[in-house]
Amino acid sequence: MPSYFEDLTPGTGLRRPRAAFTSDAGRLSLTGTWLFRLSATAEGAPLDFLGPEPPPGGFTELPVPSHWVLHGHGVPRYTNTAYPFPIDPPHVPDDNPTGDHRLAFDLPAGWRTADSVLRFEGVDSCFRVWLNGQCLGTAKGSRLPAEFDAGPALRPGPNVLAVRVHRWSSGSYLEDQDMWWLPGIFREVALLERPVGGVDDFFVHAGYDHVTGRGTLTVDTGAPALISVPELGIEDLPAGREATGLAVEPWTAETPRLYDGHLTTHGERVPLRLGFRTVAITGGLLTVNGTPLLLRGVNRHEHDPDHGRALSVATMRADLLLMKRHNVNAVRTAHYPPHPAFLDLCDELGMWVVDECDIETHGFIHADWRGNPADDPRWEPMLLDRMRRMVERDKNHPSVVVWSLGNESHHGRNFGVLADWTRSRDPGRPLHYERDRSYRHSDFYSLMYTPVDEVERIGRREEAVPPETADDPELEARRRALPFLLCEYAHAMGNGPGSLAAYQRVFERYPRCQGGFVWEWIDHGFRRRTADGREYFGYGGDFGDHPHGGTFCIDGLVFPDRTPSPGLAELKKVFQPVTVELAGARLRVANRHAFRDLSHLRFTWTLEDDGRRVAAGELPVPRVPAGQAAELPVPRLPAAAGEGWLTVRAELAGDEPWAAAGHEVAWAQFAVSAPAARPVGPGRAARRRGDVIALGAGLFDARTGVLGRLGPLALDGPRLDIWRAPTDNDRGMGANSVAREWHRAGLDRMEHRTVSVAPREDRLVVEARVAAAGTERALRVRYTWTAAGPDLRLEVHVVPEGPWDDLPLPRLGVRLTLPADCDAVRWFGRGPGEAYPDSREAARVGLFATTVAGLQTPYVVPQENGHRAEVRWAELGGPRHRLRIEGAPHFGLTARRWTTGDLAAARHPTDLVERDRVYVNLDLAHHGLGSASCGPGPLPEHRLIPTETAFALLFRALP
Ligand code: GAL
Repeated sequence: MPSYFEDLTPGTGLRRPRAAFTSDAGRLSLTGTWLFRLSATAEGAPLDFLGPEPPPGGFTELPVPSHWVLHGHGVPRYTNTAYPFPIDPPHVPDDNPTGDHRLAFDLPAGWRTADSVLRFEGVDSCFRVWLNGQCLGTAKGSRLPAEFDAGPALRPGPNVLAVRVHRWSSGSYLEDQDMWWLPGIFREVALLERPVGGVDDFFVHAGYDHVTGRGTLTVDTGAPALISVPELGIEDLPAGREATGLAVEPWTAETPRLYDGHLTTHGERVPLRLGFRTVAITGGLLTVNGTPLLLRGVNRHEHDPDHGRALSVATMRADLLLMKRHNVNAVRTAHYPPHPAFLDLCDELGMWVVDECDIETHGFIHADWRGNPADDPRWEPMLLDRMRRMVERDKNHPSVVVWSLGNESHHGRNFGVLADWTRSRDPGRPLHYERDRSYRHSDFYSLMYTPVDEVERIGRREEAVPPETADDPELEARRRALPFLLCEYAHAMGNGPGSLAAYQRVFERYPRCQGGFVWEWIDHGFRRRTADGREYFGYGGDFGDHPHGGTFCIDGLVFPDRTPSPGLAELKKVFQPVTVELAGARLRVANRHAFRDLSHLRFTWTLEDDGRRVAAGELPVPRVPAGQAAELPVPRLPAAAGEGWLTVRAELAGDEPWAAAGHEVAWAQFAVSAPAARPVGPGRAARRRGDVIALGAGLFDARTGVLGRLGPLALDGPRLDIWRAPTDNDRGMGANSVAREWHRAGLDRMEHRTVSVAPREDRLVVEARVAAAGTERALRVRYTWTAAGPDLRLEVHVVPEGPWDDLPLPRLGVRLTLPADCDAVRWFGRGPGEAYPDSREAARVGLFATTVAGLQTPYVVPQENGHRAEVRWAELGGPRHRLRIEGAPHFGLTARRWTTGDLAAARHPTDLVERDRVYVNLDLAHHGLGSASCGPGPLPEHRLIPTETAFALLFRALP
């Protein structure tokens, strides 16, 4: 007989799954400080802590909810696809950390003990529970609730609850999500009074008919009950009876209108929050209330840098506020049902939710899917149990519009069982499952990390027939008629993702493409400190955990502490629900909301001349209905003397539950005048004086031709530079690692050979060849320096030599160094944040100022960052002097206190030590970002293929 933690039952003694709800019946929270003891094996410690007598030694205090590995008992472990134990289903190793938890509590006076229920919201991964020494049962299914009848064991006054939790179980085979393995009682525990004649369960069906504009309501319960919704005039509607013709405002994620009501029985009163909406797949499109959706979504794991998946409600709310403020309208609860409070917040604040079941058997890929539980009938009860527990718990949330059967578990007959059960239990929501490419158990055609051009083919319905449906015309016809979702795309690991705008253009163009979910919301890093107290975020391997998935869990749009990354700023811009275009003398304002008109927004404009505001006003945008556009005249603008930019902003006119009035929702920028071209004056003579060559304000090394001084400023360079610290997306995965090709080609160790240094009457010409040891590929460079007044002008002419083929360069530009006291940075160009060729929508043209430190983006894993794009001019300075650099017309700017090599070698930001120079890169171009850390690399137009090219810069020392 296998033990309960290795058998194939979902648990024992469990009550039937039901909806999560609160009521006026007693609820005793059992969260707080418990006693805890860790054993190395499942049977390692005696069952000596179950009864009323004080527990033996070895117990210490532990907060519940929590993960014991985050409180000094063992370590968290991170793996991506590999199981952290042998593939030996359903068995787990003898070494199976087991946490004994014990809580002594007093039952409040007057508690009606008879039918009390003990409810666990989430315990990872398998547990057994005793009340006053009496075993109530066992359970698996980490991210799902488990309820036990507690009445018979409960006593008035003092009680003792004992819970033994095993880190590994047969259930772990179904929980191989790409995330930390975090054992423990990580969600709340409560004792619930069950009054006689109370509500056991209920299913709200609150529909909205977009044709009649009326709502319907039925609440199904197992027993007689009455429903009241005073605002709708519904009073004592019997359960099971339908109320029709209700004059309701529908619920949508844009307008999350909820109606308060209550459900009463003889013994209990349950508050209801009703959202009227109807989800349907109509004409091959996912619709709500008759309107097709465009999901601007993210995949959200539950993660907190200190508490793991034991999140506070404040943190859940913080996630949602951040999402709403960044124009995200959908969440896939990757890859398990979230804490139930998160869904309450989604109902309240408005979010389309794909609720995903706690099922992933990814690790069987390492056994060629042999033994995969998805296709083994013996695992059916455990899998179906999970689906039932999710659907029953979450069925009353208007925000939940799609059920997802799980993630990356290959395919198999059990998914058919799950789909059949779910369809019959809840015909009101479509199903999603991506990995069975026949889609027989899915109402969506869904893929991950699909390149933009393939999504476009899908949009046009020109995609190739997948092998899974090739022999079954009926199935293929069904698949082809399904709406398309990218359940994961744009892998947001490190610097990136690139191409967000390209995906969005395709989503907006083809109705069949109903959007997708960026992978993923948050970096799963844990807060740590160096020996000298500096904070950083740890990832796989930092805890001595082995085997581990390294940095692959650091792939979110927000850092572990929820600081938005530049990728989130880009997403906000790309997802904006209003667009403004300039068409001749008119502005075209398009409302890309599905349901809401634009009356909640206030439109303003500003005109900037060379970055300085010269005029501003309001734009009288009419009440544009959802999905429509309006045109209005461009405001009368004064003439700009320099480079003029008109910026239009849409901000909230009043407070919304998710942001205050004035919050910027969308913006657009238009160039309205160009700067006057600068005349190039006559050149001055370059003169050799011993070891140096003097040209205007510059002194050059006569041997290398490198500029060493400009007026009072000691500098070193500029010289050609093509290397960048590889991003996670450059490093890619397996075959698609451009960084590996770069390393092979030696692009990280290019050597410079001066070919000639030629001072002339009107210029200095320096020729060089730049190449890596042991290779024949090279870049021939000609630096032509001219001087006019205080200015030095540099023209760089680059010619690739040898077989570069298709190998892109990381960057192309020059590098120089400046004295360490150079700290302040001002520029006119794109900002305020970093930008790269395929992630530059969020950066607007303007005048910006920061410091060298302020230019850095502290990615959890150090890599190329901080590049400011399309800089017209920049000034970098210290207390004594400044350097001004002008582009012709633009350059990319990066400045940091460490070298590219330092950045590439660092494992954590705390490894970066400031040097005594400031390293400045002035780039003509960068290779794009793409998202090859899991998915496609940069689009062809963003690959930096070396060709003959020239660019120019102007340098001036300022006092
Ligand atoms: C997907 C998977 C996610 C995550 C992602 C890469 O295939 O569903 O859980 O592993 O790749 O970060």
